Amino acid sequence: MTEVPEHLLKRSRDRRSALGLGGGDGGGGDATPAEAAPAEPAPGAAVEPAAATAAAAPAAATPAVAPEPEPLPPYVEAALKRKKIPIWAMPVLAFLPVWAIIYVGGLSKAATGQPTQLQAGATIFAAQCATCHGSTGGGGVGRPLSNGDVLKTFPDILGQLEFVWLGSSGTGPSGTPYGDPNREEGQHKTLSYNGNQMPSFKGSLTEAQLLEVVRYEREVLSGAKIDAKQVGTDATAAMLWPNGKPMLDSSGKLITPDGTALFDADGKLTLQPNWTEPVGGSG
Ligand code: HEC
Repeated sequence: MTEVPEHLLKRSRDRRSALGLGGGDGGGGDATPAEAAPAEPAPGAAVEPAAATAAAAPAAATPAVAPEPEPLPPYVEAALKRKKIPIWAMPVLAFLPVWAIIYVGGLSKAATGQPTQLQAGATIFAAQCATCHGSTGGGGVGRPLSNGDVLKTFPDILGQLEFVWLGSSGTGPSGTPYGDPNREEGQHKTLSYNGNQMPSFKGSLTEAQLLEVVRYEREVLSGAKIDAKQVGTDATAAMLWPNGKPMLDSSGKLITPDGTALFDADGKLTLQPNWTEPVGGSG
């Protein structure tokens, strides 16, 4: 290849940068438009006979003499016609604010995230049960619930759900047995703990909250181990029945593994606890 005079190279670079083609030496673009023209004459464009002459005698050409109406290569014409912001960028740009909101929303969700059932249960216990049962369930006005005590009374979670829902008087008159009939120190009976009353929580907790606080007493205060497949993978790590079915329906009501209401209108269980094959962790 013959040496291209420096002033032509510079003119090429200036032209390219004026057209927004970036670095003057970009891919294969070393050829000046004048050199490229004879190889591929632009169809339809006014062919410039002077181009060939200019290419033949580049050394003779002085910058002042050639006020170039050079034919533009097709890629230059395309670059000129191109809109400054490509059309595909429009939806991308339009989506940016939406993405920002989603991103920030994701961050604040992590900070204020929905508590798990056990976390919610801890809050309820501290507010509504600890005054009588002690902050760690050691007992007081109410019976001790920690160290496996509540699990001895209720090896099956069903019985505990009902007892907390109904309280002492809802369970029956003084002396009504409740919980496991084979409890090691004898079955518990209502009003047998210094004659104190366990209040009913049917009016003050939702069924979802009942499950939360009962789980907290069993799993955290009393150390019940529940099967890993009974812990759901949703945000609340909700407890499931052993068959994998949810314990709460979409409206937050307790349901049996068959999907029917767990409590009847009086708050009594529709499914009887099985003390020999307990559900909900016996610790
Ligand atoms: C006003 C005091 C008081 C409050 C508040 C209270 N309890 Fe009780 N709880 C008792 C008493 C008293 C008993 C014993 C009941 C009986 O002998 O009839 C009891 C018994 C229990 C038992 C049965 C324990 C066993 O081994 O027999 C459970 C479970 C229980 N309470 C859970 C709860 C939960 C859950 C809360 C909060 C949502 C709560 N209690 C709030 C006083 C209370």
